[in-house]
Order: sequence, then C-alpha cells, then structure tokens
Amino acid sequence: MWTWVSKNTLRLVYGSPKEWFAPEGFKEGEHGNVEVTEEEGKFLLKANGRILQEDISISRDGEYFCLTMKMWRGNIFGLGDKMGPMNRRQRKYIFFNADDPIHTPIADPLYKSIPFFIVLDRKTSFGVFFNYPGYMEMDFDSEGKGVFKIKVRGEGLVEYFIFNSSVKEIIREFLNLTGKNFPAPIWAFGYHQSRWGYTDRNVVMEIARKFREKSIPCDGIFLDLEHMDSFKNFTWDEENFKEFPEFVKELHDMGFKVVPIVDAGVKVEEGYEIFNEGKKNGYFLKTKDGKDFEGAVWPGRTRFPDFTRDDVREWWGEKYANFVEKTNVDGFWNDMNEPTIFATQEELDEMRERMADIDLDDGWMIPLTLLSFSNVFKSQREEEIVHKDDLPHWKVRNAYGMLMTKACWEGLKKRFPSRRFLILSRSAYPGIQKYGGVWTGDNHSWWEHILQEMINIQSLSICGIFFCGFDVGGFGGDVTPELLVRFYQLGAFTPFFRNHSAIGTKRQEPWVFGEYYENVIKEIINLRYSLIPYIYSSYMLGIMKNVPLVRPLFFEFQDDPVTHTIEDEYMFGPSILVAPIYRFGQEKRVVYLPKVRWLYIPTGEIMKPGWRVVDAPLEVIPLFQREDTAVVKMDPQNFIFEKDLKRLYFDVFLNERVEIELYEDDGESFSFEEGDFSLRRVLITRDKIEVESSRGGYKPPVREWVFKILEVEGRIREISILVDERDLKIPLR
Ligand code: GLC
Repeated sequence: MWTWVSKNTLRLVYGSPKEWFAPEGFKEGEHGNVEVTEEEGKFLLKANGRILQEDISISRDGEYFCLTMKMWRGNIFGLGDKMGPMNRRQRKYIFFNADDPIHTPIADPLYKSIPFFIVLDRKTSFGVFFNYPGYMEMDFDSEGKGVFKIKVRGEGLVEYFIFNSSVKEIIREFLNLTGKNFPAPIWAFGYHQSRWGYTDRNVVMEIARKFREKSIPCDGIFLDLEHMDSFKNFTWDEENFKEFPEFVKELHDMGFKVVPIVDAGVKVEEGYEIFNEGKKNGYFLKTKDGKDFEGAVWPGRTRFPDFTRDDVREWWGEKYANFVEKTNVDGFWNDMNEPTIFATQEELDEMRERMADIDLDDGWMIPLTLLSFSNVFKSQREEEIVHKDDLPHWKVRNAYGMLMTKACWEGLKKRFPSRRFLILSRSAYPGIQKYGGVWTGDNHSWWEHILQEMINIQSLSICGIFFCGFDVGGFGGDVTPELLVRFYQLGAFTPFFRNHSAIGTKRQEPWVFGEYYENVIKEIINLRYSLIPYIYSSYMLGIMKNVPLVRPLFFEFQDDPVTHTIEDEYMFGPSILVAPIYRFGQEKRVVYLPKVRWLYIPTGEIMKPGWRVVDAPLEVIPLFQREDTAVVKMDPQNFIFEKDLKRLYFDVFLNERVEIELYEDDGESFSFEEGDFSLRRVLITRDKIEVESSRGGYKPPVREWVFKILEVEGRIREISILVDERDLKIPLR
C-alpha cells in the first residue's frame, strides 16, 4: 500500500503495522503515480517512472516481519549516533534503545534509534525512514551480496521514501515530516561544566568561582545525581544542597545557568509524592499480570512512568514546571530514559541461584557465567513490560525517551510560555528535535572517541537533530592533557559544548593540567565565545529553514564525490570548515578542501582547493574559512549576557561577493515567533558594503560593525561603521 505525503515523499506500508507515532507532516496527497510489478514473488517499485526499490520480497520468521531488497548503490549516511564509520554500508545495526556504557567499535545498539538514512552516490541521493519504534534490525549488505535486509518484531512497518537530488532537500523534507528543531536559548551555545561527582553545593560553588576568577567563559553548570535527595527526581538534598533555590540564585547572580538531571525511573518510597501519585493513578509501566513493573536504577527499587500515555506525560510535565517554580533552574537533562534497568528481582534471584551452584571445579563455566551476568544490565526486559492496553514494550521502546522529553518540553511550555529552557535527552527517536537536543552518552577519554564523536554529531545532524554534543574530555576513564585539549577543540565546534565526566575518574576541568594546558583551553573557549553571533544566527536560521549547524562536506559540496568519502572534516555553519586533530602527538593534518579557495584561519594563508597539509601543533585548530563568506564575531565574555555588545566583527574572505543573513533576537524568549527578531542581509563586494534595514520587530542596539575584508589576492582592508536599524550603503576604496 502506498500514499503520497508530498511531492517528494512516498509512504509505503508493508504488512499490517500500526503506525504508533505517525509523523506530524503526514498528509495524504496525489503527486504522481506508483507502479508495483511482480515477478517470481519479488516486487519492483517505480514512482513517476523511476525505480526506487528492486527485488523486494517479504517474509515472516516467527514473530519477525522481514523485508529484503536489492541493496542501493552508493554510500549510506545517517542512523544517528551509531558506532563505526560514517558510511553505514556493509554493517548490520540493531534498533532497540540500550544503555551500553562502553562504546567499543562494535557496541550496538546504543541509546538512540534513528531509523533514517540517506543513500548518496555520484548521480543521485534519496532518503529512507522506517518509522517503527519497536525492535528492528537493518543490514546494509554485511555479506557483500548486494542485499539490504530489514527485520522487525511485529506485523509490518511503514517506510517513507524521500526522493530528491540533494542531501539538503532530503533533510528539509524529513523535517517537514517529523518536525522542526526546538529553539535553544542563546546561552545554551556557551560552554558548560558538569561532572558526576560534584558532591555538594560548596564544591559546585568553588568550581563556579574558579571560572570567574580565571576569566574562563562558562554559561552553564550541570547538576548530576548528587543534588537529589536519595536519587529522587525533582527533589534536592537538604544536607549537601541545602537551601537549593538560594544556591541557584547565587549561581544566577554570577551569570551561570543551572541545569539539573532527571532520570526516567521513580524511586519506590511510600511518602515520596511522585511515587505515591504514580502508584495511585496507575501511571507506571506494568508487568503482564497487571502489577507495576519494578526494577533497580540508582535509587534501588524503581518504577517507570508510561510515557506513551498522554495523561502520564501531562502529569510528568507538570513536575518539571513545579521544580522550576520552586528553584528557578534553567533546563533539564533527561537521562537513563531508554529506559535503563540495572536488574529485576527475578534476575537477581536467578543470578544468586546460579552462583550458588558454581564451584572451582566448574572451570570455564565460571567466566561464562560471570559474563552472562553482564548481559542482565543490558537487557531491555521487553518480554516483561507492558504499556497501557496491553501494548508490549518491544513495540514502542525506542520512543520512550523521546516521549519523556516531549513531556518535559510541553510541561515547561505550558507553564512558562515565554521562557526558553535547555532541554536534553540521552535516548531519542525521530521527533525528539521538537522537544530538545541530545548528547551521545557515556563516551570515554580515548583518542578513538574524538573521531567517533565527530562522526556522531555529523550523523545526528543529518538526521535532523541539530542541537547535539558529547562529553568533552570523555565520560569514562582518565583523561590526559593533550587528549583533553583535542577534545575541547572538537567540542568548541559542536552545537552543545559541555565538559562532563564520571565519578571516580580523573577530574577534567580546564585547569587540572596546569598553566600551559589551562591557557590553551581557555583560548579555545574564548574562540567559541567570539563566534556566538555566527553560531546563534546560523542555528536559528537553520531551525527555520531546516538546515543543520553541523554539516558533512557532502552537504555543502554534494557534486564533488571526494566529499562523500570524508568523515573527519565538516562544516560548522555556512562559512567554517573544521578539520580537528584526533591522534596523539599529531601536529600536521591532511585536509581536503573542496571546490573553492579557503583561508587557513590559524596562519592567514590562502589555499587552493584539493588535498593540503597544514601545521596544527597543540595550540592550533585546523579551521578554514570558505571563499566569499563572512563570520560574525563578538568580544568574548565570561558569560553570554554579561555585557551589552558594543561591537560586532565581520571577518570577510572575499572573491566576488559575500552575502550573509544575520539573525538576532533576545535569545531567551519565544517572542521571535511573533516577529520579534531582526534579520538583516549584509552584502560585501570589492567596492561597497550594504546593510539592509532590519526585518522583524526586534531592534538590536546601535553598534559599531568592524569589517576586516581579506581579498583572495591578499589585500586586507578594515573599516568600521556605526549601524542602527536603517539601510546603509558604504562605498569602499
Ligand atoms: C549516566 C549518564 C551520565 C551521568 C550518569 C549519572 O551514565 O549518561 O551522563 O553522569 O548517568 O547520572
């Protein structure tokens, strides 16, 4: 069965699935014809005369619904943050959200399920989204026989086929279907400090003070489990975090925003309001015999809200809003929401029994038994858990974290309609981007993870999740000085820039390795802050136009096939190419520069397109500015709203003509949705600068704009002008 969703998107139904979370952009229409022909039980699918899928066959394997077809030609990009190369071809992936804290090269599945990918070859590109939030496997020809296989537990699945010739259009179309990205507040683009292990209020204050004493910019302090009373969500520890609202205020007065953690599991404790309400109203996930399902997470015995239900989400959403009312925190990071379940009572009993039977004579059974215990932690308990109306957990698990985040967004939006919060989630499913951003979970202080995170943020971005980041410095393991610097250099060029680490690991604040490294890191953070106008403008324009901030090279230069093979460089916004260093001791880098001339920012050298080698000692981030672009900057500050901006800087790299759009708004409310923003077109040619008067109702203050214009032949001119809201045309000599 098929229907057109738009001119470029076809919805195909295989088997008899129920589409639990139909994308919001789903509207039926008539946009052409579809032809299905059959030969020897295999189908051929053509739309508007073009072959989309060949050799399609459908079969069943017990409870599984299987679909195979001829593998498409070209590279496969997408699937969110999966381990391994950015091109997903020749591997098999599982979609079933899991908390796997050791991201080895083969770890799969992890926390998110983003069953969307782009097929890209020299001639064509198209997108495929299998909208199924239950257990699913996809095999992109792991056996090299030219076959794509998909297998779901269930009765069938729905595919959205987005055909188009450009990656940009495919992403746009995918977001028309699944929803636009949420507007993060401007301070969310600053730097954030976090750690599991900031034991009390004094420790946090000491960290905060250090940032200000050392003038290292920082906007957000994240609070991990310690702030809670016995791991109970939406509470604070009266001893270690006493007078919590006042503590938040103290941080606010110093210019910090405060973002506490919230876990999906609710501590089982009579008298704890949230537990009592959840139990009384039957809001928790159930077992098959109708009891509340109980497992263990941080607090010990824990129950889990059934976020697939509207009433439960509304209830849970109010909890965030109540907590903000009490404490005035500025956002939330939603964690353990795959959901993670450390163990159940039955599993513990079974483990005990098996251990009781084992003795030294059992030889190799000893390690085998111990190893099998580690799988308990990874198990998703899909056989035991049921949702409302007997809906089995394995049919909807992958949407659980997204729905928790939806509750968060909706609860806050309802109570605080004009305040933007920073909302994050570890687990995700398409649609998450409407409610918050994501981080990639528990990475390690390993060199390999710098490259992996580079791949992750590009893959998340092309899957429509624009606000993404990773734990800078690495979450697990002990960081080393050079590794920390290189982690920062990548992190500064991602949307969400936060240092976070696990309890028991080496501390990794910017200053832990002494003055030299501290200064190098401080400069990286300063550089990030100088770019805030560029980053924020690009992000906000991006969420309106469905264009990510992080863009693989093929996004910008699709017709150059070399870019299809590059995963260790990317564009950060429209003007900057980043080629981070991800190996210990490396001081030079080979980079591919597509199509145009590039300015190597660290030295000011102008480079022709092609393969180049650049110097990149530890203090240097290989950054390039694209020909005919401008980067809008500001003077770094300790935090984003510290001072009114008196000056903006435009670094212009000019050949013929630079045309940019500069977006500004108040950065923290939703009034931009009513037109309170400022959008101005700035045009720079060799003989003039033109600034168009601002569109939109927001009036940025009168400022000095300092243009530094570098022409491709090397001439540099500097000119500074006072800009108010009027049109301007300045001739250049
Ligand atoms: C999970 C999160 C991590 C957090 C920890 C303790 O492992 O991924 O970021 O610090 O839980 O809350």
